[in-house]
Amino acid sequence: SNNIVVAIDGYSSCGKSTLAKALAKNLHFIYVDSGAMYRAVTLYFLRHNIDIHNTGQVVEALENIHLNFHSRDYETHITLNGEEVSDEIRLMPVSENVSPVSAIREVRKEMVAQQQRMGRSKNIVMDGRDIGTTVFPNAQVKIFMTADPKIRAERRYKELMPKNPDVTLEEIFENLAHRDYSDTTRKESPLMRAEDAIILDNTNITPEQQLEFALQKVAPFL
Ligand code: C5P
Repeated sequence: SNNIVVAIDGYSSCGKSTLAKALAKNLHFIYVDSGAMYRAVTLYFLRHNIDIHNTGQVVEALENIHLNFHSRDYETHITLNGEEVSDEIRLMPVSENVSPVSAIREVRKEMVAQQQRMGRSKNIVMDGRDIGTTVFPNAQVKIFMTADPKIRAERRYKELMPKNPDVTLEEIFENLAHRDYSDTTRKESPLMRAEDAIILDNTNITPEQQLEFALQKVAPFL
């Protein structure tokens, strides 16, 4: 098929979803937040006390997990077995457990298959860690995002603070550093830049400038 796929990968909290949403909205493409899927799976594992080292349990859990996106306004609205979990998946218990869960081969296999189905025939912007390398190696546009770790932690802090006044900048910084380490060193499709991905360091540029940059990269395919 000749649908357009834009893959946006990079470290934790460096503005992938902000750019991906803006781009999808501007182009009227579908937006898929792949991280939300791993987070929802993690929430299910936490609630059901799934032992991540027990492959049988993991596989059975995956069979009982049904995820759905409702992205009518280009925000991430995800349901886990019919329940809206979009806010809960952002909280620390999930953030602290998502990297080990997403490192499980069976989990990745299932999520990647679902993601590939979503991008088979429609124009799509998907953000994550392995979209340009594993999920859509033939994506027309691949962007690899990075930013100064302190700036990233501050941005995430400002985002979480209003709803979670107990959260500290320090714990967010630690969590980001920890997830980046786990995500880049895991065996199953680790976070890395696809050879043909364009690097975008957004430490010092505005969201508008990032959108402009991405739109220029997509333009030749429209
Ligand atoms: O994008 P977000 O920070 O919400 O992703 C949460 C976690 O999910 C990441 O730290 C990573 O462990 C995992 N993830 C992944 N592959 C993706 C997207 C997210 O392993 N494509």
